[in-house]
Parts: sequence; C-alpha cells; structure tokens
Amino acid sequence: MPRALFEPITARNAFVFKTVRLRALQDAPYAFSATYAKESQFPDAEWARRAERWNGETGVGFLAVDGDNACGIVEAFLDANATRAQLVSMWTAPTHRRRGVGRLLVNEVLRWACLRGASSLLLMVTSNNEPAMRFYEKLGFGRTGRTGPYPHDTGVLEYEMSRAVS
Ligand SMILES: CC(C)(COP(=O)(O)OP(=O)(O)OC[C@H]1O[C@@H](n2cnc3c(N)ncnc32)[C@H](O)[C@@H]1OP(=O)(O)O)[C@@H](O)C(=O)NCCC(=O)NCCS
Repeated sequence: MPRALFEPITARNAFVFKTVRLRALQDAPYAFSATYAKESQFPDAEWARRAERWNGETGVGFLAVDGDNACGIVEAFLDANATRAQLVSMWTAPTHRRRGVGRLLVNEVLRWACLRGASSLLLMVTSNNEPAMRFYEKLGFGRTGRTGPYPHDTGVLEYEMSRAVS
C-alpha cells in the first residue's frame, strides 16, 4: 500500500469530509458522543459550514488519503484562551489501522497547535476504548485524572488525556 498522505478539510473537500465522518460514526459508535443517526440527517450546507469552520484559525481538520481513498480523519480546536487545543473525531478506517495513519494525523494537529501557540493538546477517550488509550499513550498522551460522563452509556466514563505541544 502506498503511504497515506493527509490534506486539510476545506470547503473543496466537504463532501469527502462528510463521507469519512459518517463512516467513522457508523464504524465506531462507542468512540464518539456524536451519533450517525443525528449527523446523517445534516444537510450538505451544514457539512460545508463545518468544513469552513476548520479554516486553521481556531480550528482545523485533516483527512488521511490513500490514493483516491480517504482513510482517516481528525479535527481540533483551540480553547477560548488559545493556550490549549482539543483533539476530536479521531478515526482510521479499519482497512488502514496499525499503518501509522493515526500517528500522521495527530502529528499534523500537533504541528498546527504549535503554530497557533497552544502549549497542550487534550482529548477525551471513552473508558471502554482500550485500543485508543494505548494509541494515545504511544503518542505521548497521559491521563489527567479528569473524567466526564459518556452520554450513551452510564457504565462508561470519558477520560481526559493530554500531552505537551512541542
Ligand atoms: C485508535 C485509532 C485512531 C488508531 O489509529 P491507527 O491509524 O491504527 O494508529 P497508528 O497505526 O498510527 O498507531 C500508532 C501506534 O499506536 C499504537 N496503537 C495503535 N492502535 C493500537 C491498538 N489497537 N492496540 C494497541 N496499540 C495500538 C501502536 O503502538 C502503534 O504503533 P505500531 O503499530 O507501530 O505498534 C484507530 O484504531 C481507530 O480509528 N479506532 C476507532 C475509533 C477510535 O477509537 N477513535 C478514538 C476516539 S477518542
């Protein structure tokens, strides 16, 4: 397989963005607070609006692409005071896992967060998502101790993880 590349989410690839995001929500509902049932009802104008929101100022999104095939996604946004960035929507297609796609996308978010002057990158991961926790640990994230509720299952928590932006 050729090495996956990445491209920023923009209004030009909003339809691919929509397709990948909906695939992620269908494939890994346990990993996200958002749901396929809700987002699959969004009109195309909403996807275009979201794509424009990731314009690199206070938010950014990247797609991983393998030839014509989009195989991963990540999004991130700055907190109000811009010292911290939040990573969300992380997903690699099952066909492309364990090939460095996730690492590639997180590294792009780190590069962006550094350029925007953020000092730390945070995320929330569900307590039943061991593979994702191992992945984030490998990339230098650690649990902060903060937790939150997971809206779809009272038996599951969301764990906050963070790492320095360097
Ligand atoms: C978690 C996820 C994004 C990882 O993506 P990926 O592209 O497979 O990750 P990479 O190939 O870049 O992995 C980098 C390193 O992380 C670690 N890692 C990745 N997946 C792992 C797993 N399932 N178990 C243990 N370690 C893992 C490995 O050390 C890996 O390096 P190696 O393959 O050389 O050993 C992917 O499994 C996924 O999309 N899962 C479903 C959605 C999800 O859980 N998203 C997270 C929401 S918080």
